[in-house]
Amino acid sequence: MTTTNAEIGVIGGSGFYSFLDDVEEVRIDTPYGPPSDPVAIGELAGRRVAFLPRHGRDHRFPPHKIPYRANLWALRSLGVRTVLAPSAVGSLTPGLGPGALAVPDQLIDRTSGRAQTYYDEGAAVHVSFADPYCPAGRRTAVAAARTAGWEPVDGGTLVVIEGPRFSTRAESRWFAAQGWTLVGMTGHPEAVLARELALCYTPLCLVTDLDAGIEEGEGVTHQEVLRVFGANMTRLRDLVADVIKALPADRACPCPHALDDLELPLELP
Ligand code: ADE
Repeated sequence: MTTTNAEIGVIGGSGFYSFLDDVEEVRIDTPYGPPSDPVAIGELAGRRVAFLPRHGRDHRFPPHKIPYRANLWALRSLGVRTVLAPSAVGSLTPGLGPGALAVPDQLIDRTSGRAQTYYDEGAAVHVSFADPYCPAGRRTAVAAARTAGWEPVDGGTLVVIEGPRFSTRAESRWFAAQGWTLVGMTGHPEAVLARELALCYTPLCLVTDLDAGIEEGEGVTHQEVLRVFGANMTRLRDLVADVIKALPADRACPCPHALDDLELPLELP
């Protein structure tokens, strides 16, 4: 185990493979195996930041194979208590096109077969998940995005599909008809695992495409997602830095208390 520590974690999405310049890379092992990549630790505005590319820097993990449990566990073992989670998403909302930024406040789980708890042996642990994201982190992210000239969508529902395929038009139209705003493949179980470790977790969703039920063309392609994400990378990276600078030093949100009064069958790092 390393003595290097960090306070804030950033989990980068497709194409977001590095963050800070002057970093120390640490290889970490966890009871759930190694995380997606070595963790790069550096400093920004006096805050210690740990960066982990969600898919691995060579994008070797498709969404359903990402070691989500190892990733969050590794970050917590470094001291991280606040996680920022940029990702590429499709839009289910006609007015919300490529390049838009959304900070959803709800999620729908349409994944299947992903390990989504640390507590599957011993005493049962049921965390509250009515509001899946950190309210303070969301507020900070929306305010920082506005200051930086984005017109962020504050709220909305992210539906997380199993993938790795994109949705059919019928699925996509159905999601939109439910009133859901965005569709992605990695937001679950990341958010709930963060909650199970009493971490603050804030999604930063960059819209890369109109999903199949919304657009009139051939449907979404991975190339399109990577191209639009890449074209917005500098802006998104700057925004993550702005959010880090603006994050309150204390955690006056409910997230640190997620495990209060629960009997845990294992010791957290
Ligand atoms: N990630 C980026 N665009 C997406 C889409 N349309 N559906 C699911 N995941 C996505």
